Amino acid sequence: MSFKDTKVVIVGAGKVGSTTAFSIINQGLCGDVCLIDVNHEHAVGEALDMRDSVFFMNRNVNVHAGDYSECADADIVIITAAAPMPKDSNDRLEMLKPSLGVVRSVVEQVMASGFDGIFLVVSNPVDVMSYYTWKVSGLPHERVIGSGTFLDSARLCRALSDMYDLASNSVEAYVLGEHGDSEIVSWNSATIGGKRVDDVLRDNASRTRGVTRDELRKRTVQAGWDIFSRKGNTCYGIASSTASIAKSILFDENRIMPVSVYLDGQYGIRDTFISVPTIVDSTGAKEIVEIDLLPDELEALKKSANMLHGLDEKL
Ligand code: LAC
Repeated sequence: MSFKDTKVVIVGAGKVGSTTAFSIINQGLCGDVCLIDVNHEHAVGEALDMRDSVFFMNRNVNVHAGDYSECADADIVIITAAAPMPKDSNDRLEMLKPSLGVVRSVVEQVMASGFDGIFLVVSNPVDVMSYYTWKVSGLPHERVIGSGTFLDSARLCRALSDMYDLASNSVEAYVLGEHGDSEIVSWNSATIGGKRVDDVLRDNASRTRGVTRDELRKRTVQAGWDIFSRKGNTCYGIASSTASIAKSILFDENRIMPVSVYLDGQYGIRDTFISVPTIVDSTGAKEIVEIDLLPDELEALKKSANMLHGLDEKL
């Protein structure tokens, strides 16, 4: 397939959707980017604005607004449409009820187009919305991926790298579980330059003023709210992580990333979408990687999954 034939459709041209489109165009990840929004004129405005930027980019991406028929030949449909987050909220699960109708209507219209690609779900609460997208679409579960805790993992890597004045991608650390309050950190597998984070924290206690694992986890959970409480949304981090997942699919990268995927017994968890390290390639969630978690981490992951499974069952 030539570059020109690769296509990503983004449903929802709000802050997250349009920033994701811009990130994809900026990196030249595919030949065609289509924006769909209930407010079509808004999508047209965003697309026209982005078209002006293409001159300055490395690749000639065709960005435009359209309708659901555009999904028929799309490689990826990214869903960012959701009910707005209540102003004083600090729990993504509060968006569940109002977003269900939005996501159902989106997925039904995408499927009616004859879509046969991969869904990338960003709408919150993302784990439950990914499960719902899978159910409503009837697609094999490998072809539904939620943006999950890839962003939280990047936030944790940044918090760690800031303390040591390093590039954040020199840190490898996974946040797993719900993209929300019950998420966990896999400390056992977290490394900085090949050295376990636990050992780095111990050996540099004065430099880090004795920061604990628990504080780092709390900072990671809080990071989204630190942004949301100031500007009413988050967009750059989530757009960049979503574009990165799209890249692994479009370029068949086989990159391992913590994303929300369907578990069927892995980690002792069944019938739930939840974030764990996953090999992502052109087929979607190609393989789930089972890393060694500490007993309390595994317990916390299962608890997080139980909570999500309880919500999935009610859909
Ligand atoms: C965040 C949103 C995407 O954490 O949930 O930024």
